[in-house]
Amino acid sequence: MTGNIGRIRRRILRRKADPPEFVGYEHLVSFIRDQRLLDLDGDLVEIGAYMGGGTVKLARLASRHGRKLYVIDTFDPAHDRTVSRSSVSASEVYEAFLEGRSMWDVYRDATRRFDNIVTIRQDSREVEFDERKRFVFGFVDGCHSRDCVESDFRLIWPRLVSGGVLGFHDYHYDDWPEVTEAVDHLMAEQSAEIGEVHEIVGSYRISSILLTRK
Ligand SMILES: C[S@@+](CC[C@H](N)C(=O)[O-])C[C@H]1O[C@@H](n2cnc3c(N)ncnc32)[C@H](O)[C@@H]1O
Repeated sequence: MTGNIGRIRRRILRRKADPPEFVGYEHLVSFIRDQRLLDLDGDLVEIGAYMGGGTVKLARLASRHGRKLYVIDTFDPAHDRTVSRSSVSASEVYEAFLEGRSMWDVYRDATRRFDNIVTIRQDSREVEFDERKRFVFGFVDGCHSRDCVESDFRLIWPRLVSGGVLGFHDYHYDDWPEVTEAVDHLMAEQSAEIGEVHEIVGSYRISSILLTRK
């Protein structure tokens, strides 16, 4: 018994803090729980994990329900040259918060204790899922250009089960106006397939929009 407590204590002391995340994934976790999305049949998918601080929150929830979390990111901070309205490039921001560390190393370190994460280290525009793949929840926070957001929608939406939800970070956020343009366009185009729409205010008062598939 004493040996067990000692082992647990040593494990807790060894455990590093999770890296930061910039969305407020706890709001997404609450939403998934409140909407009972894990009563549906399918996995979760995240585009844009960065250091993995939000990934671990989604993976923990998925693991408790025996689900996988698919994660798509290039893990290359220099790859995303999109420039925000305030004239800062995404890559400059990613590199600044990394403070010289490798994004891939930080992510791997944060997520290594999970055996339910499937990491796809690729540009999301080049990813293809098997036709039979089904998701109950997807979250997009990758590249913020209109073509990326539309492409990320078209990757996940056809694989969402009925009642499943697809979310986009940075909705109505002035720095990345193309996200809102793309989502508004998709909402009009796909209105017949979209049920409830929720907007959640997360960290730094930046919203995510969540679209339920009918
Ligand atoms: C804003 S960060 C994600 C932040 C993360 N959601 C969080 O809150 O910690 C965007 C991420 O998307 C990735 N990314 C950008 N363009 C991408 C693309 N075309 N394909 C895949 N990942 C991309 C970047 O490498 C970066 O890690």
